[in-house]
Amino acid sequence: MISSPTSSSAAAAAAMPTPSRLLFPVLVLLAASAGAATAATVSDDVLALVVLKSGLFDPAGRLAPWSEDADRACAWPGVSCDSRTDRVAALDLPAASLAGRLPRAALLRLDALVSLALPGNRLSGTLPDALPPRLRSLDLSGNAISGGIPASLASCESLVSLNLSRNRLTGPVPDGIWSLPSLRSVDLSGNLLSGSVPGGFPRSSSLREVDLSRNLLQGEIPADIGEAGLLKSLDLGHNSFTGGLPESLRGLSGLSFLGAGGNDLSEELQPWIGEMAALERLDLSANRFTGTIPDAISGCKNLVEVDLSRNALTGELPWWVFGVPLQRVSVSGNALSGWVKVPRDAAATLEALDLSANAFTGVIPPEISTLARLQYLNLSSNSMSGQLPASIGLMLMLEVLDVSANKLDGVVPLEIGGAVALRQLLMGRNSLTGWIPVQIGTCKSLIALDLSHNKLAGSIPISMGNLTSLQTVDLSDNLLNGSLPMELSKLDSLRFFNVSHNSLSGSLPNSRFFDSIPYSFLSDNAGLCSSQKNSSCNGVMPKPIVFNPNSSSDPWMDVAPSSPSNRHQRKMILSISTLIAIVGGAVIVIGVVTITVLNLRAHATASRSALPTSLSDDYHSQSAESPENEAKSGKLVMFGRGSSDFSADGHALLNKDCELGRGGFGTVYKAVLRDGQPVAIKKLTVSSMVKSEHDFKQHVKLLGKVRHHNIVTLKGFYWTSSLQLLIYEFIPAGSLHQHLHECSYESSLSWVERFDIIVGVARALVHLHRYGIIHYNLKSSNVLLDTNGEPRVGDYGLVNLLPMLDRYVLSSKIQSVLGYMAPEFTCTTVKVTEKCDIYSFGVLVLEILSGRRPVEYLEDSVVVLSDLVSDALDDDRLEDCMDPRLSGEFSMVEATLIIKLGLVCASQVPSQRPDMAEVVSMLEMVRSPQGTPEDDLV
Ligand SMILES: *[C@@H]1O[C@H](CO)[C@@H](O)[C@H](O)[C@H]1NC(C)=O
Ligand SMILES: *[C@@H]1O[C@H](CO)[C@@H](O)[C@H](O)[C@H]1NC(C)=O
Ligand SMILES: *[C@@H]1O[C@H](CO)[C@@H](O)[C@H](O)[C@H]1NC(C)=O
Ligand SMILES: *[C@@H]1O[C@H](CO)[C@@H](O)[C@H](O)[C@H]1NC(C)=O
Ligand SMILES: *[C@@H]1O[C@H](CO)[C@@H](O)[C@H](O)[C@H]1NC(C)=O
Ligand SMILES: *[C@@H]1O[C@H](CO)[C@@H](O)[C@H](O)[C@H]1NC(C)=O
Repeated sequence: MISSPTSSSAAAAAAMPTPSRLLFPVLVLLAASAGAATAATVSDDVLALVVLKSGLFDPAGRLAPWSEDADRACAWPGVSCDSRTDRVAALDLPAASLAGRLPRAALLRLDALVSLALPGNRLSGTLPDALPPRLRSLDLSGNAISGGIPASLASCESLVSLNLSRNRLTGPVPDGIWSLPSLRSVDLSGNLLSGSVPGGFPRSSSLREVDLSRNLLQGEIPADIGEAGLLKSLDLGHNSFTGGLPESLRGLSGLSFLGAGGNDLSEELQPWIGEMAALERLDLSANRFTGTIPDAISGCKNLVEVDLSRNALTGELPWWVFGVPLQRVSVSGNALSGWVKVPRDAAATLEALDLSANAFTGVIPPEISTLARLQYLNLSSNSMSGQLPASIGLMLMLEVLDVSANKLDGVVPLEIGGAVALRQLLMGRNSLTGWIPVQIGTCKSLIALDLSHNKLAGSIPISMGNLTSLQTVDLSDNLLNGSLPMELSKLDSLRFFNVSHNSLSGSLPNSRFFDSIPYSFLSDNAGLCSSQKNSSCNGVMPKPIVFNPNSSSDPWMDVAPSSPSNRHQRKMILSISTLIAIVGGAVIVIGVVTITVLNLRAHATASRSALPTSLSDDYHSQSAESPENEAKSGKLVMFGRGSSDFSADGHALLNKDCELGRGGFGTVYKAVLRDGQPVAIKKLTVSSMVKSEHDFKQHVKLLGKVRHHNIVTLKGFYWTSSLQLLIYEFIPAGSLHQHLHECSYESSLSWVERFDIIVGVARALVHLHRYGIIHYNLKSSNVLLDTNGEPRVGDYGLVNLLPMLDRYVLSSKIQSVLGYMAPEFTCTTVKVTEKCDIYSFGVLVLEILSGRRPVEYLEDSVVVLSDLVSDALDDDRLEDCMDPRLSGEFSMVEATLIIKLGLVCASQVPSQRPDMAEVVSMLEMVRSPQGTPEDDLV
């Protein structure tokens, strides 16, 4: 009967104003269910669903078409009806974003409902304590339902399938649930159910599938569980079950999956497991099973996957591992021992074999390669010895080979290159010898390579640059030497590359990864270093050393960098690189004393008698020591036009009185050419290190070609094997260093002058870099000022005169004490590019604006200018850093821009520094009217 009081009241409701229209069906429904007598109808279904909807939060609007104006609900989304009765038979709304509680009354009212499936929503609250009487299937998995499973569920006789997995259900599994006559499938996994599981599995049980995994269940597995003789799948994994596997299980001849991993099960594995003939997957991992692995398990002829890992099993690896057509076997983490024997006629079905973390001994059997489908082989953490068999190279499917932490010796077979599918090759912690085979370069799929903690020697093969998928490489703790192949820069995916504890040297490859490689990946090598601030060459830790102030003999004191406070210095904190520099400095001082004269006799017309006696004595002693010198005495070469000789009046001598200054490369003297032209002559004091005459001349000629109005021109040179001179134009007005640090308040450089100097120096560097010349030695004392106040950069490109061998000592000798040296310079071997000049330039900029030295050595500390300035920038008090002599004549906005530019140039990582051309255009932008704020110059 369709027509009933409810349907007419629904019609009445439709005519009502809106608020009560919503309320009305609820009232009717409640009244109806309270009365519980009237036969439900099609329109009752409509009402029940509308009430259901009103109790749910439906942000995705999936239930929007559910409207109480409808006659029937059958066409609504998620609703299906019985075609005969038109009653709602199934609600199926998976992952519909529905939230809220399931209204019990509405649910009960859907009394023709057979299937309710709302998995993957956000339903909360507790389970309804009663279900529609005809319900056969309930799936509320993947919601947020909490509370216990109502005991009344056990009286829901129609239930066939119950899926409440992945909710927050607590309390016990209800008693009697197993005896529901039609129940075939129960999934309560992934909840918080506790207590012990009730027994009561009737012989007549229809149960096919029971999943109680991932709960907090404890006690023994119900002894009569095997009475449910139709069971195909039983998962009890990841609970806290104790005891053993109940023997009743042996009767489950149809069971294909038995999962009991991750419990506290103990006792010995029983041979009757082999009676479960249909078993395909057996997971007993992570328990406390003891004893040997029964041979009888071979009775499970359908086994595909066996996981017995992480137990306390003993004895040998059972033969059936290779005899039954298994695909995946793990016995990892037991106490199995003996040799691993792979029969020649092994069933070649295995895809994954994990024998790791046992006590297996003997060699890796060459027959392993008969397992032609093997993709994963883990033999790590055993005591296997001998060499990795060459037959590994025949395993074309092998993706993961882990033999780490064994006692393997011998070489990595070059046949490894045949295993082209390898993604992970892990052989660390063995005693491998020999070289890394070049053939590794054919394993193009490699993502992870671990050869650490072995005795591998030789160099890293260039072919590794072809392994472009590599992400992690651990070669640490070996005997590798040579340099890192530059080809490694092609490894774009690299994120871990540890080569510490080897004997590697040479430059790091050029790539983003290697630019910022952590020091710990490189530590303890012969000479690898990173460009990072807090890392340095092997053996040269950047940690400051504090001298004992009471130490009586402090050989460094006298030659410490000149600073007014030096004299009162009691304690010095110096980095080791500084120390080395100072040692170098001392050597120079001693070396320079003896040679102060220049022999130009062969070319000068002046007679030797014109030489001051003391100096000529020096000359004599020199020529006496090396008589051939005189014979093949040098020739003065001047570039371009003009005089090619020194003046003959005897004042051309490079004596102490004419000395202009000393640098890392030599001493500079003033002299006058015959035509009256003043020149500055630099006598190289590093003569023993200078390259061959040919190389010297070639490089000097290149330097001589550089002409720029911000560069001190090299006018000529003089060469003998024991004496080399460079002849520069003479710049009269002194160095920037003098102007910044030795000038009175009144005569100090103005803001505009300083700005012009910065721009001029920047242009000079652009020009040098254009010629491919790296300055290497930029500092304020190498920037001279001409009579117009124009800066002229000198002393450029001299490092290239020297063979590379001792660049470290040399470069630190030149610059490190003074603080202009780029961090990558501290390494003997790391590649130094023109970016090192940009670093020095950055420091110079800060020096010019602050009027302070790049490094100041105080009583008991060292102040590094760039740190000081960047701290001030962080604290927004850059004004404090400006040279007080500049007060008021500049715009702080402009100064801030330039300081920031200086700091960027002085970045620790070379790749972060701009190039000089960019610097010049940025400076020009700052200076241009647009870039100049109104509050500019007073
Ligand atoms: C229960 O539902 C989940 C999805 O939420 C599904 O993965 C699982 O297979 C279902 N269990 C059974 C026994 O069908
Ligand atoms: C090999 O087994 C060990 C120990 O069981 C494990 O730690 C390691 O991750 C496994 N290796 C791979 C590549 O899965
Ligand atoms: C890298 O691979 C290319 C192309 O496969 C090959 O020609 C080259 O020889 C390989 N390089 C090395 C060093 O193995
Ligand atoms: C690199 O390897 C060494 C030696 O094996 C190890 O001590 C160090 O921790 C490793 N570094 C990193 C970052 O893993
Ligand atoms: C590396 O060591 C081997 C000996 O193991 C030696 O023959 C070779 O010359 C060394 N190579 C370098 C670059 O030092
Ligand atoms: C190096 O410096 C970085 C940050 O600059 C820091 O995170 C790292 O721990 C430092 N490493 C060492 C070895 O001090």
